[in-house]
Amino acid sequence: MSDTFYITTPIYYVNGAPHIGHAYTSLAADTLARWHRMLGHDTWFLTGTDEHGQKIEKSAREAGIEPKQQADRYSAPFRGLTDLLDLTNDDFIRTTEPRHQAVVQEMWRRMQAAGDIYADTYSGWYSVGDEAYFTEDELVDGKAPSGHDVEWMEEQSYFFRLSKYGPALLKHLEDNPDFVRPKTRYNEIKRFVEQGLRDISVSRSQFGWGVPVPDADGHVIYVWVDALSNYISALGGPDGEKYETYWPSAVHVIGKDILRFHAVYWPCFLMSAGLPLPQQIFAHGWWTHAGEKMSKTRGNVVDPTAIVAEYGPDPFRYFLLRENTFGTDGDFSAAALENRYGGDLANNYGNLANRTLGMLGRYCQGKVPPRGPSTELDDALRATVAQARIDLIAAMDRFAFSKALTAIWGVADAGNKYITETTPWVLAKKGETERLNEVLYTLCETLRVLGVWTQPFLPNKAPALLAQLNVPADARSFESTAEWGGFAEGVQTGKAEALFPRLDQKKTAPAEGKPAQPKKQKQKQKQKTAKEAPVTDATEAKETEGPSYIQFEDFIKVEMLSAKILAAEPHPNADRLLKITVDAGEGRDRTVCAGIAAAYAPEDLVGKTVILVANLKPRKLRGVISEGMLMAGGEGANVHLITLPGDHPPGTRIS
Ligand code: MSP
Repeated sequence: MSDTFYITTPIYYVNGAPHIGHAYTSLAADTLARWHRMLGHDTWFLTGTDEHGQKIEKSAREAGIEPKQQADRYSAPFRGLTDLLDLTNDDFIRTTEPRHQAVVQEMWRRMQAAGDIYADTYSGWYSVGDEAYFTEDELVDGKAPSGHDVEWMEEQSYFFRLSKYGPALLKHLEDNPDFVRPKTRYNEIKRFVEQGLRDISVSRSQFGWGVPVPDADGHVIYVWVDALSNYISALGGPDGEKYETYWPSAVHVIGKDILRFHAVYWPCFLMSAGLPLPQQIFAHGWWTHAGEKMSKTRGNVVDPTAIVAEYGPDPFRYFLLRENTFGTDGDFSAAALENRYGGDLANNYGNLANRTLGMLGRYCQGKVPPRGPSTELDDALRATVAQARIDLIAAMDRFAFSKALTAIWGVADAGNKYITETTPWVLAKKGETERLNEVLYTLCETLRVLGVWTQPFLPNKAPALLAQLNVPADARSFESTAEWGGFAEGVQTGKAEALFPRLDQKKTAPAEGKPAQPKKQKQKQKQKTAKEAPVTDATEAKETEGPSYIQFEDFIKVEMLSAKILAAEPHPNADRLLKITVDAGEGRDRTVCAGIAAAYAPEDLVGKTVILVANLKPRKLRGVISEGMLMAGGEGANVHLITLPGDHPPGTRIS
């Protein structure tokens, strides 16, 4: 990949409000733009609106307004996506702008000068919905393959010699197996080109809402010639300064429905105009909503404004990129998004931040500690981070967002597990300061790396985390994570603030700077999980119907150890309780108060090997501090401690 990166979204039709499909393309493109900027590449990100053609003219007529009014009305909410979704587009092109129209006409002249435009009569089927021509045998049940209606059309028009460029395009595909991605789409296009290309009609005369064909009264240029040219008109056309810099480093991110226009027509137009071809075209899949195709008539179109108001822009972006493989179809549902929110974002990423910053505050006055003696546990976490970095780069090179996020979240998982394994609170209690320092340093550095890596995916929350860690804005490049140990000793970190508050708390306050919550979700019952972190992040949020699941990540936070009972006596202040001393292989004894006095005589317990929940927050029970809980089944006189064979060594992890 070169150091210049030009990324585009399709330009959106101005015949309706933006929906999840538009948001998806834009978020994916923006994430790539942010990623490349973080790598230090000279990046240009373009989006915009497609405002000409019969489809727009028809929508305007139905609304009783002029096409330009229609375009102005609907271009605005697409421009508004930049704010709503935190897009970092460098430009926003509208095809009704003079700067665009001039370039479309220049493209036409170049194609004409190459001898590739000729006049003829077109007769065939046309789908206004797709703005595309179809032959009889391409129709499915009398409709376009997309399901749109077709109408018979016969008119004088200009044709483009697409057929002439078939062999050259095929050669380009063969020489550049990454020209179209993913592979299935590449194969589909290659097969299509191999069958031979037919010339296409590139002007319309039955309506006037378009760019005029130069020197031909009454003809407007076919909307796809017009629309595709935006990718260079926004750079100032073939003579533009930006064109010099960014063309042909372009990557076009599109939906699978508009692949043929981008992977066949566009390269042929460019070849005819004597211009180089873009670097790559990536076609993503489509979203359904709760298993159903989205449509206005079904009333189930997902509105990005509502989702952002309810969950915030970062969780929306994270969900779309994490939930399914880029390139395949995905299904959106509020329940699935809440699952990701509660699990991946709050319990995993958010909690690692809370726990680390909390412990740093408690044990080191919030300062990044000096490094200390290392163990295999630290080495293992460092190795996980190093491998994840390699996997992340490889995944992003292939636009595999979900894989990239899986790699990053593997580090968050490993960080949480590391806390359970190293038990910093025990190190603090035992006064093992040097070891505690190394553990907390390792956690701080892991968190810094996570903060840096997640910037393209969580453009609000990652900077918030990096600010809590006091990582300066100019020290957040990807390169800053190349070597372990970039976090300088002595940096004063800030207070831990929940990055992903519980959804029930959050729903009472709209996301900062975002529209107020427009719709109310069904009341959800949220579950709490035990944490030693002082700040509460959201816990797993699930619907109440059916079982209330916890994530595996929650379960593994419970640390269970085998423990030998050394002594037991009645509790001085509670008849129900026994005060039990256990050895859990930690080099010290623990006291646990257990409500088993009705079932066991203290002397019968000594020597038994039981299961201790070791990382339960200590609690004072009737004046005695109880550090953990013994696993048991039953109640009252029928309670039974779960025991292990007597020779089972204390301190073994139970899972
Ligand atoms: N104007 C043309 C593009 C011209 S580009 C030179 C167009 N516009 S569109 O507004 O209809 O669609 C824009 C994008 O939204 C397409 O990439 C399309 O695939 C995407 N999506 C529309 N519905 C979608 C889903 N349900 N799911 C995912 N993406 C979908 O086509």
